[in-house]
Amino acid sequence: AQDRPEDETEKGIRVSDSAYTNTAAVTSSITFIDGGRGILRYRGYPIEQLARKSHFLESAYLLIYGELPTAQRYDAWSNEVLHHTYLHHDVEHVMSSFRYDSHPMAMLISGFAALGAFAPEANPSLQGQNLYSNAAKGNVEALAQMDKQIMRLIGKAPTLAAATYRNRQGRPFNRPPTGLSYSGTFLYCLDQLSEHQYKPNAVLERALDILFLLHADHEMNCSTATMVHVGSSLVDPYSAVAASCAALYGPLHGGASEAVVRQLIDINGPENVPKFIEQVKRKERNLAGFGHRVYRTTDPRSTIIREVAEQVFSVTGRSKLLDTALALRDAAEKDDYFKSRNLHANVDFFSGIIYQQMGFPLDFYPVLFAVPRVVGWLAHWRQAMLSPSQRIWRPKQIYIGASERDYVDVKQRE
Ligand code: ACO
Repeated sequence: AQDRPEDETEKGIRVSDSAYTNTAAVTSSITFIDGGRGILRYRGYPIEQLARKSHFLESAYLLIYGELPTAQRYDAWSNEVLHHTYLHHDVEHVMSSFRYDSHPMAMLISGFAALGAFAPEANPSLQGQNLYSNAAKGNVEALAQMDKQIMRLIGKAPTLAAATYRNRQGRPFNRPPTGLSYSGTFLYCLDQLSEHQYKPNAVLERALDILFLLHADHEMNCSTATMVHVGSSLVDPYSAVAASCAALYGPLHGGASEAVVRQLIDINGPENVPKFIEQVKRKERNLAGFGHRVYRTTDPRSTIIREVAEQVFSVTGRSKLLDTALALRDAAEKDDYFKSRNLHANVDFFSGIIYQQMGFPLDFYPVLFAVPRVVGWLAHWRQAMLSPSQRIWRPKQIYIGASERDYVDVKQRE
């Protein structure tokens, strides 16, 4: 028999649920997904309506605060967020200190963590412990301080991301402009031209805005659970966002769009698609960008992304990679192997090709996922911090190791 701890505080039954497959760690009113029917809603609003009528910063407000903003609130919110796109000179110094070939996600994680070192209110020993507990009790100053942290993180995400891109090229960082949208500001900060010459292409700017909106939240997942878990210790959100970003860096989470493009490069042309499909059916390969743990029908985001893709391609032109992708999608959607298993193109199938057509390097794709997902992380963090049931997360384990035994001196060990 295995040792069982005598735990007088233990309540209820201890269950083993490896990888939390069946465990709901939170109750949430942020995002609803019905994978069987292909439904995704932010705060009750269908994703299709938001993608057509809203834009990223408005939907970000909705995700975080629960309601669409009035015109006045939206102006104040977007002005504040865009005001916070500026990086402190010393943060820029941190970002320029990495090797030119550092992975952009490694730099981004460090950038978020560095914000915690530069933001004066972030230090828990000064006031962090009380800040979030006070906010949960409705303290107006504490709530305002949390709002500031939220706006600072959303504002700095695109400039930190652009800094990782510019650092790899050994180029100076572009200072964020005034008067551009969130995605326009990001494109400006990435750009190769010297300051003041660059105007983002309106179609690409809107396409990126929609991609950001679609990636802003996807209820509980590895990186969002990380945010709430780390945040439950009442650490500052800069450190918690750095941890979430680390979770997203893993190839099983933020790496799928990159895998799609690598797969298309490997297939090397529409004429090779039938051979590739046969390899997938023989289980020798996996078709990246198809299938989803939650969606057993079409991922609603992929339908919107297909439309966005057409708009982007009207500007960037078509490539062999795109023709390969379309041939691959058509072949898979007609094939019984995929039909019988309910395998459809997911959000990553077309987003990777869009990023590729827009000229982003392959290892930058997870960064393009992380920038908008900061919003989802913060929405779940704020919900958790303000919940009356907020406590430090402390999962249980089931011990399966050795029973008590005596220490053996090193000379007597075999
Ligand atoms: N290519 C080929 N076969 C597949 C694929 C695929 N992409 N996905 C699932 N299958 C097969 C499985 O082998 C299985 O076949 P079987 O019944 O003969 O054993 C059947 O379809 C059912 O698969 P599940 O086990 O239900 O799939 P699961 O939920 O475990 O996996 C996952 C979901 C990981 C997303 C999988 O579909 C996959 O690997 N897809 C490719 C990677 C990808 O695109 N990931 C991004 C997902 S979206 C996101 O994370 C933002």
